[in-house]
Amino acid sequence: MPKPKVFVTRLIPEKGLELARQAADIEVWQDPLPPPREVLLEKVKGLDGLLCLLTDKIDATLMDAAGRQLKVISQMAVGYDNVDVAAATQRGIPIGNTPGVLTDTTADFAWTLLMSAARRVVEGDKFTRAGKWKTWGPIDFLGPDVSGATLGIVGFGRIGQGMAKRAAGFDMRVLYYDVQRYPIVEKSLNAEYVDLETLLRESDFVTLHTVLSPETHHLLNNSRFNLMKRSAIIINTARGPVIDPQALYRALSSGAIAYAALDVTEPEPIRMDDPLLTLDNIIIAPHIASASFQTRNKMATMAAANLSAGLTGERLPTCVNPEVYR
Ligand code: GLV
Repeated sequence: MPKPKVFVTRLIPEKGLELARQAADIEVWQDPLPPPREVLLEKVKGLDGLLCLLTDKIDATLMDAAGRQLKVISQMAVGYDNVDVAAATQRGIPIGNTPGVLTDTTADFAWTLLMSAARRVVEGDKFTRAGKWKTWGPIDFLGPDVSGATLGIVGFGRIGQGMAKRAAGFDMRVLYYDVQRYPIVEKSLNAEYVDLETLLRESDFVTLHTVLSPETHHLLNNSRFNLMKRSAIIINTARGPVIDPQALYRALSSGAIAYAALDVTEPEPIRMDDPLLTLDNIIIAPHIASASFQTRNKMATMAAANLSAGLTGERLPTCVNPEVYR
């Protein structure tokens, strides 16, 4: 019997590819950039499974282009706002993602951004390379203390909770806001549940860990930035569109807030003529929060496990639309 046919939309860590090869006849897109839409629509024709990334738009048109034999879509990411889950469910296609394995790595990176923004590491590096370091400066590169400050966590899922854990080591007061409350966890992490407005008013650092949905789209806008302390630092490792980029530019350039550190932007990649790139009080990383050797291996392995299960009709180990099994 011929092996099932699978397309992998980018080169992923070899461990994942090895597993996928055991389960299917795979074609891997070799270009460092994602397959263009029209190419992807061609490549999916007749597939049994698709292993995709957050850079691929997976919608009804693509599922229909693939055909009714498509058994599984496995995304190598925890977030899946690029996937039309309702369209997949309607067609009985399970969608896999990779939760859990990237929690610490992502929280570590959000913490890195927090510390780098507070202590102006990137500005300092640029200053050194530009040959401007002439002496030790008693009033140069001052930033706020992290220890003892108030951290506001928006979205208290696995990664948000990971931030609360890290904050404990820095003797911080921790506030959180989420659409749901976590009474047991909040107690164990010494975090206080508040509404979003209170969190924005009282926090020295605000870190975003929500999913992107119609409810969280441009959650941080002009009026919300105006609530924040003028000394506030915002960190975003969630999804770019959770922040209105024009409102962020206004807030940073007018001094309504002090600093931002982003791993995600709207759009991605950020356009080189985006006014945010003209500011000194912002750090912008290229969506790398989960990029550790170990974590990317685990994500690839998990994505391959979801793929294999889906190809044989078994329940995916981590399925975002388990309603397909009802
Ligand atoms: C990365 O952003 C992910 O969702 O895994």
